[in-house]
Amino acid sequence: RIAYVNGRYVVHANASVHIEDRGYQFADGVYEVCEVARGFIVDMPRHLARLNRSLTELSITWPVARNVLPLILREVVNRNHVVDGLVYVQVTRGVASRDFVFPSADTKPSLVVTARKADPAAGAKRAETGIAVITVPENRWDRVDIKTVGLLPNVLAKQKAKEAGAQEAWFVDTEGNVKEGGSSNAWIVTRDGVLVTRPADHGILRGITRTTMFEVAAKLGLKIEERGFSVTEAKAAREAFISSATTIAMPVVAIDGDPVANGHPGSVTLSLRQAFFDIAE
Ligand code: PDD
Repeated sequence: RIAYVNGRYVVHANASVHIEDRGYQFADGVYEVCEVARGFIVDMPRHLARLNRSLTELSITWPVARNVLPLILREVVNRNHVVDGLVYVQVTRGVASRDFVFPSADTKPSLVVTARKADPAAGAKRAETGIAVITVPENRWDRVDIKTVGLLPNVLAKQKAKEAGAQEAWFVDTEGNVKEGGSSNAWIVTRDGVLVTRPADHGILRGITRTTMFEVAAKLGLKIEERGFSVTEAKAAREAFISSATTIAMPVVAIDGDPVANGHPGSVTLSLRQAFFDIAE
């Protein structure tokens, strides 16, 4: 495998950044994960626009010219012969002696790009059974709209889910409303067939898959309501699902051990999933 690290394509096993990288010391960095499907990097312009937003919010400068990054992503995907899988991009504020305040302006941000293959059949199989989620209290900061590599609450929540035999954890606010998953956005389908997902303010990450799903839903003639929903409403909903670059639309069939509807993947979710792949490019 080949990785891109600060201007070089290197053997993945030997790829490294300096021990005083601020990503390592302070989680002072941002990232993107794009799906690769049938050789295409899905929604790349949107992912790069969100990366630009994350960088801007944190006053981290672009590590390379903005129009060069797509070429690097493409190159890493090609060099690793990834047809289906994902590509990962990480930018940190760079390498400097440990100090909380920003380093001098001439410090170059670090850029790492990796890619790996995934079996598309595995996702399809998972979608046939659906996934279980658990709920956990929201304990993250109030700027999770910035896609930073500071993911410790997400790590702990998803580990807890795994230990409970589930595949995702939903962060729930103090009012009992679902915010989002540890690495995905959360949705339900009401009894009337309306899609519901929480507004994308500073309290969740505005998922690229979520944004594209709005277009997919419109194509299918489905209505979307952007509003909060509670864990109770989700359990009683017709369907529930999650969305992310790595899962696309994935049915949720159980929440905290209680079945969603009849406990089987819903038809609306599965048609969204199919339609997403049909229009993805
Ligand atoms: N995670 N919310 C959170 C907290 C996420 O980490 C992600 C993505 C999403 C969905 O965003 P998108 O549709 O753009 O993938 C929502 C990626 C997949 C990850 O960290 O691996």
